[in-house]
Amino acid sequence: MSTSDAGGRLARRWPPGWPLRPLPRGQWAAQQPTYAGARPALIDAAVKRAQARPSGNWFVLAASREIRGDRPFGTSVAGAEVVAWRDTEGGLVAGPGACPHLGAPMALAAVDCGALVCRWHGLRVGPGVGAGWQPLPVHDDGVLAWVRLDAAGGEEPLEAPVVPARPRRESGVDSVATLTGVCEPADIVANRLDPWHGSWFHPYSFSRLSVLSAPGEVDVADDDDRFVVAVTFRVAPGLGVPVRAEFSCPEPRTVVMRITDGEGAGSVVETHATPRGRGTDGRPRTAVIEAVVADSGRPGFAVARAMAPALRPVMRRAVARLWRDDLAYAERRYQLRSM
Ligand code: FES
Ligand SMILES: [Fe+2]
Repeated sequence: MSTSDAGGRLARRWPPGWPLRPLPRGQWAAQQPTYAGARPALIDAAVKRAQARPSGNWFVLAASREIRGDRPFGTSVAGAEVVAWRDTEGGLVAGPGACPHLGAPMALAAVDCGALVCRWHGLRVGPGVGAGWQPLPVHDDGVLAWVRLDAAGGEEPLEAPVVPARPRRESGVDSVATLTGVCEPADIVANRLDPWHGSWFHPYSFSRLSVLSAPGEVDVADDDDRFVVAVTFRVAPGLGVPVRAEFSCPEPRTVVMRITDGEGAGSVVETHATPRGRGTDGRPRTAVIEAVVADSGRPGFAVARAMAPALRPVMRRAVARLWRDDLAYAERRYQLRSM
């Protein structure tokens, strides 16, 4: 009996309610090629439509829980140095990262009574204090911290960022990961709007991927602007979780993958691309801030969670590899464009 016969037999005998399914071993090179579907013009058109949507000049700064009340968090957004921390009530505060006196890095300041105290000469800055220092508009959605930079965004400002719909907080579990690449936000978005690369480029994570529908190039209504995919997530050798998922862009720097059917339905993976500015080599840096908000409301989730200690190291390795490979794709896209 061949391995695939055994796999097929196992699949037929598998309890139907279990979220994990046996995954017969397949030959990577024997998969159906997907390049004919992944038309460059179609992907570019989807990226352009995303870029035309309003962001209201909001940028994801970091994971909410990265910003604390006992020390400042420093980064740069679109070339502007930004510092953030929490006030005495836990409220998010952000503003320019250079001290208004002589430019000391406020990311290294001390937090005292909800304000920042500069280490060079003791100037205190925060909402309502610190001559020459103005806080920036901020938004904390509970998973991510956002900052509004009107000069960098150049759009009509919006009161609040466009935050994707998420599972309810009580039922969901969230995690946020950040990594940085040499590319622009559009390169990150373009990578996520090419679902066809999934089981070719990431065979260790995805198998049996088929793109069930993709938007056209012209006259696409907002509601139809999504890619629908059927895919099996490989969670361990020989085991996978089949799901249906859709990808869409609610704003120019966000791609949302929502699981619509199968284990974890309702869960979302949000990929946010935040331009950091240029590196010392003059090339752009973009942070990929990826939030996974998993819905744990379904009973099957408990089974997956019970197995999590065993699966987690495998999944962590797979996820780290996914990020590395997707960033390499985005960086390559930038490199080819900038040559
Ligand atoms: S540089 Fe900050 S107080 Fe002087
Ligand atoms: Fe990918």
